[in-house]
Amino acid sequence: MRIALSLGLAALFLSAGFAMAETEKPKMTIKEVMKVVAKDKLLAKVTDGKGTDEDKKKLLEVFEELAKNTPKKGDAESWKKLTASIVESAKGVVEGKEGSIETLKKVSKCGDCHSAHK
Ligand code: HEC
Repeated sequence: MRIALSLGLAALFLSAGFAMAETEKPKMTIKEVMKVVAKDKLLAKVTDGKGTDEDKKKLLEVFEELAKNTPKKGDAESWKKLTASIVESAKGVVEGKEGSIETLKKVSKCGDCHSAHK
């Protein structure tokens, strides 16, 4: 009886955890991310191979926030895929994976995303 109860409670906490992750509020809006990526040229710095470890971490952070946003324009599935591949390759850059900077350059093309979502 007690085991069943604690299992039930554990399940409750787990699903609450998932629900929270699902609705997690982004800390930055898309525009704020764009400012860091574009105006401060953080993405260009990193893809030019001039980024420090700090720059790479910061870039990954802002892309993670970007992925939590929902754009006003375009298909939600397409946004998810695009931002997931950007986050994935930014992670590779932080980890120093071979070829990751090239991949990041390819998946984070400003125009590709803007034509679909801006
Ligand atoms: C993953 C998608 C994506 C990528 C990649 C992306 N953008 Fe954006 N960008 C957007 C969206 C969506 C908006 C519209 C935001 C809004 O109006 O809320 C936007 C808006 C902007 C704006 C206008 C911001 C404002 O304050 O109105 C600028 C400038 C910009 N992007 C520059 C860039 C540059 C430069 C790059 C490439 C280095 C880039 N973006 C890459 C999705 C992206």
